[in-house]
Amino acid sequence: MFISLEGIDGAGKSTHLAALAQWWRGCGREVVLTREPGGTPLAERLREMVLHESMDPLTESLLVFAARREHVLRVIEPALARGAVVLCDRFTDATFAYQGGGRGFDWAVLQQLEGWVQAGRQPDLTFLFDVPPEVAQARRVAVRQPDRFEAQDTAFFTRVRQAYEQRRLSMPARFAIIDATAPAHEVTAQVLGVMAERATGDLEGR
Ligand code: TYD
Repeated sequence: MFISLEGIDGAGKSTHLAALAQWWRGCGREVVLTREPGGTPLAERLREMVLHESMDPLTESLLVFAARREHVLRVIEPALARGAVVLCDRFTDATFAYQGGGRGFDWAVLQQLEGWVQAGRQPDLTFLFDVPPEVAQARRVAVRQPDRFEAQDTAFFTRVRQAYEQRRLSMPARFAIIDATAPAHEVTAQVLGVMAERATGDLEGR
């Protein structure tokens, strides 16, 4: 099973990755915890550039998809082939949200790149952690030095959130939308509830 976690910066998704990993290990499954951009040595180098160097939006989109290509071929596909559960902190929905929504880059070009890079591969389940941009910003403040995306204003994150929603509506079956304004332990309970429900088929199939 391939599971991705998405949401605007400050939605708190990373907190719930560990809970999901523990849940799947409790089911006796190998778990591969990974992230995008990144997940391989080359892709992590590309991540550094994307997060810290200023560049044109097409360059930015090409670099995140270049990193993704390496990640899909070298980590995600082999893990799925041996029956592991892949938990990925962000995947292609983030490209549509940040490069498409946030930066206003051409959605059709992103769809074309997605087709080339993923050859039909999509997460089986995507948790979308949804919070208003103001709440997310308050959470980000004082946590750490912001990167190029975290430093953006509320209008940018409003567009990112809208683009996530647009993406969800185009593939509704894959998404579980999670209200991430609640306290962390409640959000984790929500996530594990959805996971238990969605995993039934996958666990029975083994
Ligand atoms: P994030 O996942 O929030 O990691 P951390 O918790 O270490 O900050 O940061 C990754 C950033 O990269 C985030 O701001 C969104 C951005 N991003 C894109 O712009 N496009 C993409 O395709 C992906 C995967 C991420």
